Amino acid sequence: MTQVTGTQEWQALEKHAVGMRPIHLRDLFAQQADRFARFSRRELNLLFDFSRQRVTEQTIALLLGLARVRGLESRIAAMFSGEKINVTEHRAVLHTALRNRSNRAITLDGVDLMTEVNASLERMRTFVDGVHGGRIVGATGRTFTDIVNIGIGGSDLGIVMATEALANYRNQNIRLHCVSNIDGVQLSDVLQQVEPARTLFVVCSKTFSTLETLTNAKLAREWTVDHLGAGAPARHFAAVSTNAKAMDAFLIPPQNRFTMWDWVGGRYSIWSAVGLSVALSLGMDQFELMLTGAHEMDEHFRTAPLEKNLPVLMGMLGVWNRNFLGMDSLAVLPYDQRLHRLPAYLQQLDMESNGKRVTLDGSEVTYDTGAVLWGEPGSNAQHSFFQLLHQGTAKVALDFLAPVNASSKFQAQQNLALANCFGQAQAFAFGQTEAQVRADLAAKNMPEQEIARLIPHKLHPGNRPSSIILFPRLGPKTLGRLIALYEHKVFTQSVIWGINAFDQWGVELGKKLADTLAPVVEKPEQNTDPTLAGLLQQVGQWRAG
Ligand code: F6P
Repeated sequence: MTQVTGTQEWQALEKHAVGMRPIHLRDLFAQQADRFARFSRRELNLLFDFSRQRVTEQTIALLLGLARVRGLESRIAAMFSGEKINVTEHRAVLHTALRNRSNRAITLDGVDLMTEVNASLERMRTFVDGVHGGRIVGATGRTFTDIVNIGIGGSDLGIVMATEALANYRNQNIRLHCVSNIDGVQLSDVLQQVEPARTLFVVCSKTFSTLETLTNAKLAREWTVDHLGAGAPARHFAAVSTNAKAMDAFLIPPQNRFTMWDWVGGRYSIWSAVGLSVALSLGMDQFELMLTGAHEMDEHFRTAPLEKNLPVLMGMLGVWNRNFLGMDSLAVLPYDQRLHRLPAYLQQLDMESNGKRVTLDGSEVTYDTGAVLWGEPGSNAQHSFFQLLHQGTAKVALDFLAPVNASSKFQAQQNLALANCFGQAQAFAFGQTEAQVRADLAAKNMPEQEIARLIPHKLHPGNRPSSIILFPRLGPKTLGRLIALYEHKVFTQSVIWGINAFDQWGVELGKKLADTLAPVVEKPEQNTDPTLAGLLQQVGQWRAG
């Protein structure tokens, strides 16, 4: 496959970018007062306002031309039809089948997957309703009040993000705790808060071989045995995995097992039985509404013309910012505290998917691929890192997300959050000119010499590109739409860059090294690696007991 830089469309964009780079957003708005009408789209009750991106209509036309020549439309069709587009693992990529509420047949290797998908959803519902209704109980016959999800990465981040986002919809009789980290802190904290007889552990691991998850799960099982006896884990443990053998070894009884499939990547798995803990926290109806929202976005992505297609537009704007305006990172800024884990969730989705440096055929790329993604909820973020965004030298593009209606009962406060969100977007776009600073200071009767001294410090250059995604209210359907929007944005970008968004070989080396180092951290005197000698010696000296 030709590298994208070799296409006429890429070269046309490079040429166009030379003309665009010196142009300020102030000029673009001065030339086109109706930029909002031109550069915003409303689809599925999401308003995508990209009028503050440094683009003209020509930019969009060129970007969509690039998408077409990279075969985006046929790649989208290939993904949805179950072609094995994850070429390094010979796998189809069908997380969209998990939320295929239309139930149209999706065939893989001659089998309609919808039969299994629907059966899995049905089993989840029976289990969730059983726990909520008190038909599924612990070893002493008491109902469950606490669910502890043990998993990491794609088997944790989506669960935390979604249940925090939808906290208003939680079942009031169930508390959900999530344990992911290897260091034992989360597990020990959770075990102090819960009652053994009323706690259900959900071990969530696609592979059931992840060190963090297995270590935490084994400790949790020992704790259960210590408190309730050897037979208790069978009543207090459920598991979600593709690895039946490992679930056998962990003695998970058949009725507590939930399967997933190798055509679902870990970071795309919240829609599968990995969402069991979400459903246990929110109820199956709410979980299915999330699926519905995501399915609506799938249909939009699959069928809408590129000009109106939100994930395509978002993806291509990301390509523009990354490859033509030199933006190194994307800050995601939700103006709703309920979305406080969204940036962390999107970090895995985006950076594990598009953090690649070779194309599908293995050749090294000669252009930048996935940007760093980070973020925090506004307005907290304003009081920490916004200074750097306003006046620093880092090149960061921004995504603002905000509901119009409050996720709390304090609408007036959400109005203030919106005012902050819009105010920041304006400040990033237009900045503050020398004349404005001068006028402000002169109005305070500041002497001219002091004004001149302060001007460079008080200038806001502006011209920082941002998009705003506005929606009526944060609920399960909207959340489903938003997650799928970002998933497909990531896919769009991977197609342009010619990389595989669905493998993650880069995480393997560190895992392997940690495995080999575990014994020498236990016994530093057995270390034979001179490059680690100093560190391990210190561990030995400082370790108490
Ligand atoms: O960090 C690498 C990774 O493989 C992720 O892709 C995945 O989400 C996570 O580990 C957890 O994997 P598993 O669900 O198999 O335990």
